[in-house]
Amino acid sequence: PDSSLDTHLDLLVVGSGVAGLSAAVRAAGTHGMRVGIVTKGELTQTATRWAQGGVAAVLGGDPDSTDLHLADTLAAGAGLCDVDAVRVLVEEGPSRVNELISFGAAFDLDESGQYLLAREGGHSLPRILHAGGAATGVEVERALVEAVRATATLLHEHTYAVDLVVEGGRCRGVLALEPDGTLVEVRAEHVLLATGGSGQLFSVTTNPPEATADGVAMALRSGVAVADVEFVQFHPTALHHPSMPRPLLSEALRGHGALIRDVRGERFVDELLPRDQVSKAMMSRMLELGVDHCYLDARHLERFAERFPTITTALAAAGLDPGADLLPIAPAAHYHCGGVLTDLDGAASLPGLWAAGEVAASGVHGANRLASNSLLDGMVFGFRCIEAIEAGRDGPRPTGAMRALIAPEGSGPDDQAQGLPGRRLERPVLPIDIPTPSTEHPSDAATLRDEVQAVMTRNAGVVRDVASLTAAASALSSLASRLTRSGPGSTAHLELRNLIEAGAALVEAALAREESRGCHTRSDAPEPDDALLVRFVLGG
Ligand code: SIN
Repeated sequence: PDSSLDTHLDLLVVGSGVAGLSAAVRAAGTHGMRVGIVTKGELTQTATRWAQGGVAAVLGGDPDSTDLHLADTLAAGAGLCDVDAVRVLVEEGPSRVNELISFGAAFDLDESGQYLLAREGGHSLPRILHAGGAATGVEVERALVEAVRATATLLHEHTYAVDLVVEGGRCRGVLALEPDGTLVEVRAEHVLLATGGSGQLFSVTTNPPEATADGVAMALRSGVAVADVEFVQFHPTALHHPSMPRPLLSEALRGHGALIRDVRGERFVDELLPRDQVSKAMMSRMLELGVDHCYLDARHLERFAERFPTITTALAAAGLDPGADLLPIAPAAHYHCGGVLTDLDGAASLPGLWAAGEVAASGVHGANRLASNSLLDGMVFGFRCIEAIEAGRDGPRPTGAMRALIAPEGSGPDDQAQGLPGRRLERPVLPIDIPTPSTEHPSDAATLRDEVQAVMTRNAGVVRDVASLTAAASALSSLASRLTRSGPGSTAHLELRNLIEAGAALVEAALAREESRGCHTRSDAPEPDDALLVRFVLGG
């Protein structure tokens, strides 16, 4: 590779959502580090921008408290959260939100100038800050992009991170594909993966087309530990409509009293349960009635258009009027709870490598993320990575599952005691070998992506079992060999390779998790099994 982007950075951030930008602002703005951002689209082309509901944080006092936010997060996580990580999230979250406000983020206020707080599923109290009704991500991204542009951060848009550069047992940068197709090495003292999620693994998703599991797959190829990858959250109230990504009907609607009905008009689930439970109840009702959707009934909500202008526009585009129509809904892949295993500061198992936001598995989400904890997660752990780097840290300081698996030689048995245990799984080996020269047509990548999504949706979606997962593993392996033949290494092919490799890891972990817990539902093992209160880890 060429090295035209080799600027010898202190920090290279891969991705430009809330986690990456929060880290870049802190590193370049506060600490004067030399920072670069590599992002595969434009700076604002991220899932953060699409976030609706808001940011969960306890900014005031009574009756709310960080202990209640902690308890709600742990309950949603169904026994697999790392309590220490959740404590960090809820306790440091309010400071990060206040910083964001100081950068100019404007959250919705009531007439007396107090923050308007919404309630969402799994929260015992209203504590969700939002902007523009349910356009919070646009405002968060806007404020952070402005803050980053005010620093000397080097921006490399339309530049695709292909692989980690690993030398001498540490991460030294990434191999990246520039917009003109040149492969370059971008070297840095530290690399922060902030590449977001994996929604494109499934045919029906709320995620943007860029959400192709890049960070998880890069980590897997470099032997970096990933965890909890079997847990994909399906949002219950995506609009059931041919457009993709699916327009989201924010959970905030249910917080304001919208109801879920089956196709006969009957209610069958408490709308304010955590999302995994609502999605599961909807799937079984849909199966029972032989239909592919339910309805969200928001006809009685007052001032809908004023409160939710973005959703009103999306509904109008689909020919729906929330004041008059029942809104067809079905679950859609929304959030990957698992990812690159990190310690409490976002350090991955490979020295020099950090991860924050959806790509990371710090343990805050467990088996199911609590609503509106994701923007908060990105801010809190993006910030903590930088503070740890500034303090001279170079590798992980493992706790919980990470400690159990990758504790340095000689650490005593007492060190293993904290947090949840981990269990190592073998990373599936797939017959993929790209980039290679090829004569085949690039549109193969689009066809193959559809096939990957169909396989995953059919076999590893909301409900799975050993037969479907085994079928998925073998279908992914055969898709991998077709990908090899279809090269060359265009971005579309590289994304596809990532989807296949991350999909195979997900399937492997889902096979091993012979129970139902959080957003992982096995029809052949419908109950949780406390013998499986462990985090599955691949690589590392
Ligand atoms: C929503 O508005 O329903 C999505 C918020 C989230 O993903 O937490």
